[in-house]
Amino acid sequence: MMAQQRDMSIVIVGHVDHGKSTILGRLLADTGSLPEGKLDQVRERCRRNSKPFEYAFLLDALKEEQAQGITIDVARCFFATEKRKYLIIDAPGHIEFLKNMVTGASRAEAALLVIDAAEGIQENSRRHGYLLSLLGITQVAVLVNKMDLVQYDQEVFQKIRREYTRFLEQIGVTPSAFIPVSGMEGDGVAVLSEAMPWYTGSTVLEQLDAFVSEPAPKNRPFRMPLQGVYKFTRGGDDRRIVAGSILSGKISLGDEVVFYPSGKKSRVKSLERFSGEPPLAAAAGEAAGFTLEEQIFLRRGEVATLAREPKPSVARRFRASVFWLGRDPLTRKKTCFLKAGTAKVEARLAEVLQVIDASTLEQQNKNCLERHDVGECVFETQAPFAFDLAEEMAETSRFVLVDAFEIAGGGIIREALEDADTWLRNKLLVRNRKWEHSLVSPEERADLYNQHPELVIITGATGEERKSVAKALEKHLLHRGKKAYFLGMGNLLYGVDADLKKEGNGAAAFQDRKEHMRRLGEVAHLLLDAGLIAIVTARDLEEQDVAILRKAIAPSERSGITCLLGETSSSPNFRFDLRLERGEQPEELAKSLARHLGERGVFFAP
Ligand code: GTP
Ligand code: MG
Repeated sequence: MMAQQRDMSIVIVGHVDHGKSTILGRLLADTGSLPEGKLDQVRERCRRNSKPFEYAFLLDALKEEQAQGITIDVARCFFATEKRKYLIIDAPGHIEFLKNMVTGASRAEAALLVIDAAEGIQENSRRHGYLLSLLGITQVAVLVNKMDLVQYDQEVFQKIRREYTRFLEQIGVTPSAFIPVSGMEGDGVAVLSEAMPWYTGSTVLEQLDAFVSEPAPKNRPFRMPLQGVYKFTRGGDDRRIVAGSILSGKISLGDEVVFYPSGKKSRVKSLERFSGEPPLAAAAGEAAGFTLEEQIFLRRGEVATLAREPKPSVARRFRASVFWLGRDPLTRKKTCFLKAGTAKVEARLAEVLQVIDASTLEQQNKNCLERHDVGECVFETQAPFAFDLAEEMAETSRFVLVDAFEIAGGGIIREALEDADTWLRNKLLVRNRKWEHSLVSPEERADLYNQHPELVIITGATGEERKSVAKALEKHLLHRGKKAYFLGMGNLLYGVDADLKKEGNGAAAFQDRKEHMRRLGEVAHLLLDAGLIAIVTARDLEEQDVAILRKAIAPSERSGITCLLGETSSSPNFRFDLRLERGEQPEELAKSLARHLGERGVFFAP
């Protein structure tokens, strides 16, 4: 609840034990944000255990996680000044928990970076500074803490200030302020200290109020990663609500929306709300739900955009600035998952362009990213996803890398790159965007036909055998009241494919096999859109052919069923959905295939 009312989120970072929790405890105490009696209770507990009182214990007491003595998760504290409400994210300094800072910091607008005056600048003081700059957090106040330990010596403060300013300059960060403080004694936190008459700048509290709060980016292009599509089925309510959190821009009733990576388009029919009057518009910072004019099939992971605004990139290859925190190095062999918005795709490092050590800013010569390295790399994902470039839209350019269920790195995308499928994807994007939707939705059509559309691809064996099974299947299905169509390859070759160069021997040998496959996919897509079970045969089915077909029919929600007739396949590693023994009568084989379709839920009762 509170989190929604905050005016500003701030992350506090720094090397382990430099005093983040202590300063936070102080801030809570000095702004009167602690529950009644909490301070006394913790003091009393310390006295009973003969432990010196620590302000950091206040946080622990609030969270009851004192056990380890170090903060083990990103903690959240709320407090308010007269000016506004704050959420402070305590990102632990311990190296093991650096990754928490990454997810915590990505939502913050400003940062407090704590440096121990006695210990001076440490590795993590620099790394955290670098990560803040990488994540685009440009408002940074440096708190030189534990000034009491260095007798409030101005020279110690100035030396750290000079040294750290130089470091920040190198990474393009201009600090908002350097403040000498003692979290333990309270100097410089809420009030200036008599012990440091030489310092006349602002206190930590004043500095917090001086940070500029950036309003949610309502005037930028609309971006809403899809959380999911929720169907209401009760009481004749057949609304399907597309839901998510709006990261930027705004959306209104009647707006034309395009979803990426699919490129599907429709219009906002209604905006929805759990209770109360449905709104006419929703904007950045809000969770939103809306229904569409057409019932298009959408999945979590798509990004909703507006047709009249700049498009996001859709790609499978991109250049990014990344940091790696995983125990094992990130090599080109490793596959991990990339999460951006609500999209999750398998990803792989493709090329290392540059690696630097974030604590020294030294260039390193290697072709992998080791723990704590920061670099410029090319990544490749298994499937295309939608994103923006860091310079244009920070919110939708960030991603994290997940290795073995843990966040092991992250970064921002700098450039979208082409891959082998770009040609196909671009064609499909345009086709989906321009698609004319029928008045009958795919679901309605499926209900009327008592079946889902599906593509059945039969390969293997000789041409005659394939064709007779395919035709037998068509007949078998039609005679059982199903809607099926056998699409003979020859029917395509000299019609739809008439302009394509066919070379080599055999009717189906193509110079441009990919284009042939794309067209076959388009025709299949039409048949599926008509609600039919389309049956095609193919000679040698390569994995990349099936990939093209599957992409072409993707909007229909079905992925196609591959069936190998006999033993031999030219693609030994391809996993077929079904394998049929040769030698039986085509009718018998067709029956087995039909049974398989039934098992896959293609038909419904009756
Ligand atoms: P982690 O969460 O473990 O990374 O540490 P932290 O940065 O939150 O540090 P914490 O606030 O727990 O402080 C670490 C130690 O430094 C504690 O023993 C504090 O009492 C001590 N400390 C913090 N601030 C001051 C200060 O201003 N002066 C002195 N003398 N000690 C301090
Ligand atoms: Mg702490």
